[in-house]
This record gives sequence, structure tokens and C-alpha cells, in this order.
Amino acid sequence: MTEDSTDDSTAMQAGFDALIAGDERVEPRDWMPEGYRKTLIRQIAQHAHSEIIGMQPEGNWITRAPSLRRKAILMAKVQDEAGHGLYLYSAAETLGIDRSELLDLLHAGRQKYSSIFNYPTLTWADMGAIGWLVDGAAIVNQVPICRCSYGPYARAMVRICKEESFHQRQGFEILWTLSHGSPAQRAMAQDAVNRYWWPSLMMFGPPDTGDGASPSGHTAQSMAWGIKRFSNDELRQRFVDMTVPQAEALGLSLPDPEIRWNEERGSYDFGEIDFTELFEVVKGNGPCNAERMAHKVKAHEDGAWVREAAAAYAAKRESAVA
Ligand code: 3HC
Repeated sequence: MTEDSTDDSTAMQAGFDALIAGDERVEPRDWMPEGYRKTLIRQIAQHAHSEIIGMQPEGNWITRAPSLRRKAILMAKVQDEAGHGLYLYSAAETLGIDRSELLDLLHAGRQKYSSIFNYPTLTWADMGAIGWLVDGAAIVNQVPICRCSYGPYARAMVRICKEESFHQRQGFEILWTLSHGSPAQRAMAQDAVNRYWWPSLMMFGPPDTGDGASPSGHTAQSMAWGIKRFSNDELRQRFVDMTVPQAEALGLSLPDPEIRWNEERGSYDFGEIDFTELFEVVKGNGPCNAERMAHKVKAHEDGAWVREAAAAYAAKRESAVA
């Protein structure tokens, strides 16, 4: 490396560091360290994959919604998730990678999606638990990303978070209706909350204190780069503090006898999370991992003709105007 090029890279690193230190936005054309770009591609891709795979558990219930109104709401939500995925793939593509490559990595098991979508949706009440808990957790996790240092990701989050609020409210309303319905409906709502509570806490990732077995490997660097604004445990605690009073309002209990208000800390204490379950699910050993991936790969293969037709049409148009 010549002396000049060393000076150039030093100046570019200094420019990037100044942007981050000044809490300004890094834009696609700005110089950025390769590690920053790779971290963003990993996180944004996982986020996008999660939105798309997340359509499956809820999509399973569109044809079985208990009323036209519920069907329309659920269809709108699932369509929103598809849009969130496309938004996020577009944000990832500003980093110089094509979404087709990201999809290949996902289908090959070399990129992840959120653990939460590997759990089954057994009853209609699960639509309420997913909306209230999963989208509620997503909001807590995603609102800080609206202030992420990478411009396209932060801007994608602003619209996504607005739609997540509708998702969370419709889930809360489903559970409100059921928990104030017949004893059987109430039991169904409680069962769904029992099954989705702990996996929702796991959505926030491994604990902050890396103990070797469960390191939260990326947090420190991602926070230094302004990609993450809070640690996994900070956001998890924020979610618990927001959700416990809502559960009380619903008249439903949370499956953790250790939840109690800690006056000194000004937040709720809660029980130990079984992170081995998170790591098992992330490794592919969750209840629905194989089913979700098989469905995703088949949908991608079934859609090949659409992509080919669109590409052929675009090429024809291009040659016509050339
Ligand atoms: N599911 C799958 N993988 C997870 C995970 C989870 N719940 N939590 C952590 N991981 C993975 C990380 O990807 C990382 O994998 P790698 O080392 O192989 O790259 C590893 O576990 C270590 O975790 P870290 O906490 O160090 O990783 P991050 O700094 O990336 O933090 C995260 C994890 C908090 C999920 C962060 O990536 C993030 O905030 N992502 C953006 C939000 C997101 O993806 N949410 C997923 C749900 S989307 C959704 O809910 C849609 C809504 O509409 C329902």
C-alpha cells in the first residue's frame, strides 16, 4: 500500500468516525469500513428474511379467521409484512448486495431469520398473541433502529414502525375479545400467551453478559457503530415493563411466577430465560424450522417463472428503447 493510499484510507476512516461521533447518518455513497457494511448486510437481511418467513404462521389462519372483519385485518397485516420485507431487501441492496443472493443464503441456511417464527400457530388466539407479543417486541426492538446510523435502514424503519403499531393493536384486540368471551375462548387466549411469552423474550437475542456459551457477540461493536442503540437485555427489559400492565388489563396471566415490580430498579423482575432453547431454535431444531424453510424454498421455486417473465419483459423493453 503506497503512502498516499494509506493517507487516503486514514482520512476516509476519520471521516466515517466523525459521522458516527456526530450522530449523523452514513449514506450508501459514503465510505464505510467493510465490517460496518457486513454487519448491516447481516442484520438487515435477517430482518427482511424474518418479515417474509413471518408471513407463514399468520397466513395459515387467513382462511380460518372467525369473521370477515378479522380476515380483512389479518390479510392487511400479512401484506404489510411482505412490504416490510421488500423495504428491507431494498435497504440491504444499497450496500451492494443483490436480494437474490440474500435469498440464496437464506435458502442454504447461511443466513437466519428470527427464532420466533419457528413456533406453530395452533389456534386463532395465536393471531392475538403474535400481534400483541411478537409485534409488540418488534416495536420495542425496531423503534431505536429509526435512529440507526445507516440512513436507508433508519428510514425504512420509520414507516415499518408505524404499521407495527397497527399490528400490535389488532393483536391486543383479538385477545381482549377472547379474554372477555366464553370460558373456552378465555382458556384459548391464556394458552396462546403461555406458549408465546418466553419465545417473544428470546426475540431480543442472547443475554448481554457473554458467558462463552451464550455470547451476544455483536452488541458492543454494533452499539459503537450506532447500528444498535440499546443492548439486547435493555430492550428485553423495556418490553417486559411495557407488557406486564397490558396483560393485567387483558385479565390474562404471564407464565412467569417471578414477575414482580422492583421498586428499587423501577422495573419488573422476571424469571430466568432458557437461552438453550433460543440457540437450539436458531440452530434449526425448533418446532417448525424445517416446515418454514421448505415452504419458503417451494414458494421461491414456484415463483421462478414470474421472475423470468419480468426479466424477459425488462430486457425486451430495454432493447426496444436502445
Ligand atoms: N433469532 C435468530 N437469530 C438470533 C436471534 C433470534 N431471536 N437473536 C440473536 N440471533 C443471532 C444473531 O443474528 C447473531 O447471529 P450470528 O452471530 O450468527 O451473526 C447471534 O445470534 C448473536 O446475537 P447478537 O445479539 O450478538 O446479534 P445482533 O447484534 O444482530 O442482535 C437482534 C440480534 C437483536 C435480533 C438484532 O439483529 C436486531 O435488532 N435485528 C433487527 C430486528 C429484527 O431482525 N427483528 C426480528 C424480528 S422481525 C419481526 O418481528 C417482524 C414483525 O413484523 C413481526
